[in-house]
Amino acid sequence: MFITFEGPDGSGKTTQIRLLAGWLRTQGWVVVTTREPGGTRIGNGIRSLLFDIDHTEMTPRTETLLFNAARAQIVHEVIRPALQTGQIVLCDRFADSTLAYQGYGYGQDRAELGRLIGYATGGLTPDLTLYLDVHPEVGLARKQAGAGQEWNRLDAQTVAFHRAVEAGYRELIAAQPERWRVVDGEQPEEAVHQAIVAVVTGRLPVQAKERR
Ligand code: TMP
Repeated sequence: MFITFEGPDGSGKTTQIRLLAGWLRTQGWVVVTTREPGGTRIGNGIRSLLFDIDHTEMTPRTETLLFNAARAQIVHEVIRPALQTGQIVLCDRFADSTLAYQGYGYGQDRAELGRLIGYATGGLTPDLTLYLDVHPEVGLARKQAGAGQEWNRLDAQTVAFHRAVEAGYRELIAAQPERWRVVDGEQPEEAVHQAIVAVVTGRLPVQAKERR
């Protein structure tokens, strides 16, 4: 089962993935956690290129191609092999981030982005996507306050950009309500975790677990 986490920067995805992975393991599941961009040697190299705060000349098209190059690698190297052996994959961001940030944020053509994503992923889509709902301003403030948090080139965008990204997520959710679940990410950490557990419990592939 392939579960992705989306939301504004600073919405708590990393923490919630760690908590959910821990809970799933106590239930006997084999879980792989990973993140985009990154999660592979090549992907981590691309991540450094993308987020170098000095790379101010990077065009939106270059950025889009790099995100999708990292995605092609992680799908091939990590996600598909894990899914093929019945593991649960939890991924911190996936293709929806490209549609939200490069599409709605930078205004790039979403049909073109869709084709590029299809090429990068070979058509792999998440079974479930959890949206951690946090106001962009709250997320950015959390991120700026967080000790040891990486502050990247995209975080340095304007508040208007982050609002456009959030509005984009709302459209993506409305377009595929069966795949998405929205969780209030401004609740205390444990309450967010319990809400996520409740959603995931209802979606776990019972038969697959019996076959493990
Ligand atoms: P994060 O690792 O802290 O979530 O930061 C990743 C940043 O990259 C975040 O600002 C969202 C952005 N991003 C895109 O713009 N497009 C993408 O396809 C992905 C995966 C991330």
